[in-house]
Parts: sequence; structure tokens; C-alpha cells
Amino acid sequence: MKTPLLEVRNLQKRFLTGKGWLQQPTCVHAVNGVNLTVTEGETLGIVGESGCGKSTLGRCILRLIEPTEGEIVFQGRDIRPFKKADMHQVRRNMQMVFQNPFDTLNPKLTIKSILTEPLIAHGIPKELRQALIEDTMELVGLSKKQLARYAHEFSGGQRQRIGIARALMLRPKLIIADEPVSALDVSIQSQILNLLQDLQEQLSLTYLFISHDLSVVEHIADRVAVMYLGEVIELANKEDLFAKPLHPYAQSLLSAVPVSDPDEKRERILLKGDLPSPSNPPSGCKFHPRCWACMDICKTTAPALQEVEGRLVACHLYERNG
Ligand SMILES: Nc1ncnc2c1ncn2[C@@H]1O[C@H](COP(=O)(O)OP(=O)(O)OP(=O)(O)O)[C@@H](O)[C@H]1O
Ligand SMILES: [Mg+2]
Repeated sequence: MKTPLLEVRNLQKRFLTGKGWLQQPTCVHAVNGVNLTVTEGETLGIVGESGCGKSTLGRCILRLIEPTEGEIVFQGRDIRPFKKADMHQVRRNMQMVFQNPFDTLNPKLTIKSILTEPLIAHGIPKELRQALIEDTMELVGLSKKQLARYAHEFSGGQRQRIGIARALMLRPKLIIADEPVSALDVSIQSQILNLLQDLQEQLSLTYLFISHDLSVVEHIADRVAVMYLGEVIELANKEDLFAKPLHPYAQSLLSAVPVSDPDEKRERILLKGDLPSPSNPPSGCKFHPRCWACMDICKTTAPALQEVEGRLVACHLYERNG
């Protein structure tokens, strides 16, 4: 059996917003009781509409923002109570790649300085640094001659390579990639996705890959978790999910993905209404006001995530039938 590298248990993040003159404080339940396991060497994709809590989940796992509740078990230890020094050590093995590397690459520093920063922060001896930097540049398809340049002198795709290089400097085990190709041209997207796949093999990396783009996730993920309003509503092997999504929300999301086979007919399921506000979510199953299969129980009782046909689904339809 494969070892879990990361286990997320009942993770919750509530943001308090709107405090101030005449404004009532409101609570945004961005992540609401997420349970996940990521096994060593796999890519778990996280998908869902804008605002469903994907980024908040990723940032909570790294504790870039503090979760409100839950456990984050990484390499067998719950890192949520860890103090700063212990968390610093954990971050050696858990790194993040962001959507827009330009925002996160310091424009005043050369690429060499950017890549040196994590090495200094983690006490890597000076004599080892140059070789590590050059090796990493090569790994991401850049040349050591480019080390003296600044971020603005690179194209979008190259900047993302630098963002990936920075995340790899300490040779982490887990990379949380938050929309890493969403800001790139389609042609560049596939280059970066292929690079991530090559790196995964060469460096035995595990990925949590966040994207709103199902075609991208179909390309890269082994398993996929579909989120809706802060909750995982279906978690399945990629092949199973793309062949036959079970949750009505997953069905509607998947129905919008273009099919490569011209003979395959897929009817587009259009959802009624917008994503409800996470500060005032619907009762029962949070998807029920938009669901064409809604039953009475869905309006009052939240369905549990349970095993159905070899995957996990949170939907009363399958409780009844199963
Ligand atoms: N710092 C914050 N303060 C208050 N609310 C927040 C904060 N960060 C996120 N939210 C809210 O939490 C919810 C989830 O946001 P999040 O950014 O995690 O969604 P997402 O799935 O990553 O969306 P996208 O696909 O647009 O990146 C949203 O309703 C958002 O407005
Ligand atoms: Mg996001």
C-alpha cells in the first residue's frame, strides 16, 4: 500500500469580514470540513468554480493562512500546532507554486538572488549553493547564463519556470501548485505541464494541483477532488470521474469540458443561478438550489461523503439507491 504523505482531516477556515462602522461582521466559511489524503508520488487535482475555496485550502495546508479547525498530518505528524521554527523545517518539504510568478518574484533581485534566498533561509552551506542553483536551472529548462537577469526580462512561461525552480531549491516532497498555468498562453501551458510531469518523475514529487480548468487537471492529475462552497463533493480517480461523474455538480462541470473524440456526444448541463455566498450558504446540501435532481431531504440535510462505485460522493441520490 502506498504511504500517505499528507492527510487533511476536517479542515476548516472561516474568515470574519465586514467589521466596521455600520457593517455587521459576517463569517465566510471558505473551507468547510475537508478530508483528503495525498499519497506519495501522486497528483491530486482540486477543481471547482471560482470562490469555492481551492486556494484557501492550499494556503491552509501550508499554513500561509491559519486554519480555524482541523488537522494537517504531513509525513505522519500533525503540523497544525507547530511553532514557527518547526514550521520552517516543514516548509523545506512542502512548497507552493503560484498562479502569477511575476507577483511573487522580487523585481529588484536577480534570478540568482531569488534562488539563493531559500538556501540561506534554510542554512544550506555557501559552497553547495552554486551547484544547487545551476542544477535547478537546468532541471526547469533554463540556462545558468540567465542567472544574472531580472524577472521582467523573462517571458511568462520562463517566469513560471523560475517560480518552479524557487519551489524546488530545497528539494521538497510536496508541491502545492495553485493555478500554475492559468495565466499562460495555451501553447505554453502544455510545456509547463509537461515540465511538472518530468520533474515529478525525476525528483519523486507529490503534487496537490489546484485548477479551475478541467482539461488541465485531466492532463496532469491521478485523482481529482471536486469542491463546492468549501466542501469536497466528489473524490475519484481521474479516469472514473471523467468517464462518469456521479455528483450532479461534477456532472455539470464535466459537461462543459470539450471532448477530443468528434463522435462522442456530451450534453452541456447548464446550472441555474450563481454560486451562493459562502457567508450565507443554503441549508442541507449546499448545491440543492442549483440541482436538477433535488429531493426534499436535500433541502434540510447535508449529505455525508461516502463510498459509491469506488469513489467518494456527497449526494443523497446515491444514499437512496445504495
Ligand atoms: N482573506 C480573506 N478574507 C475574507 N474572505 C476571503 C479571504 N480569502 C478568501 N476569501 C473568500 O473565501 C472564499 C474562497 O476563496 P478562494 O480564493 O479560496 O477560492 P478559489 O476557489 O481559489 O477561487 P478562484 O478560482 O477564483 O481562485 C471566497 O468566497 C473568498 O471571497
Ligand atoms: Mg484560487
